Amino acid sequence: MRTPLVMGNWKLNGSKESVEALVKGLLAPANSATNVQVAVCAPAIFLGFVEQLAANSKLAYGAQDADVHTSGAFTGENSPVMLKEFGCTYSLVGHSERREYHNESDAVVAAKFKAIQENGLTPVLCIGESLEQNEAGETQAVVERQLKAVVDLCGIEAFNQAVIAYEPIWAIGTGKSATSAQAQTVHSGIRQWLAAQHAEVAAKVQILYGGSVKAATAKELFGQADIDGGLVGGASLQVEEFAGIISAAQ
Ligand code: G3P
Repeated sequence: MRTPLVMGNWKLNGSKESVEALVKGLLAPANSATNVQVAVCAPAIFLGFVEQLAANSKLAYGAQDADVHTSGAFTGENSPVMLKEFGCTYSLVGHSERREYHNESDAVVAAKFKAIQENGLTPVLCIGESLEQNEAGETQAVVERQLKAVVDLCGIEAFNQAVIAYEPIWAIGTGKSATSAQAQTVHSGIRQWLAAQHAEVAAKVQILYGGSVKAATAKELFGQADIDGGLVGGASLQVEEFAGIISAAQ
């Protein structure tokens, strides 16, 4: 009942040349994907270019972050209103790299989530535990804390119009994906936590897995009951590999 979503996160990668080749290469896989949504999250400076390249296609796109403010004296930031104007459907929020390198607290992430949603974009809330937290058995507590910050500010029904991406930090860019069973356990825990507050919202929300997803591992991950697609970093920079991940979601 939930449509899978395969989303690329290019992070701080790309040139005009590579972005053009990548988007052009992804148009056919995105257009021909049946019952799978496909999107890419580009560095903000490329979004206008992606808008032109992806025009009239089924390839959706979004930003990797958005400011909490819509305009004003906030040098260097990108407003959710501006992102919307350039045709973004989504914005990531709370990616672990933002939490770590930009000191984004749960409260900041929640405020950004709210601003993104209020301005007509779908927030993709990234959550996940560190290796240390994983080894200490704190995974469920960490993801609940990260989700609760958003629920407290925006209400549980905010997840009617949002996506969750579970990305264990130890699996990001390491080549060491969580096993499908490990990921399913956490995804199911996330859905149960949401369901305790609102069963319909929990049943409907897409929960993506992220962390070293490859074409070869995607099918088994996406075959799990509570995994509704992937948030893909490195492998989303290669047309063939990303197309393989899209196929695995069908
Ligand atoms: O947001 C995607 C991500 O952090 C996973 O990156 O390179 O492990 O697929 P990667």
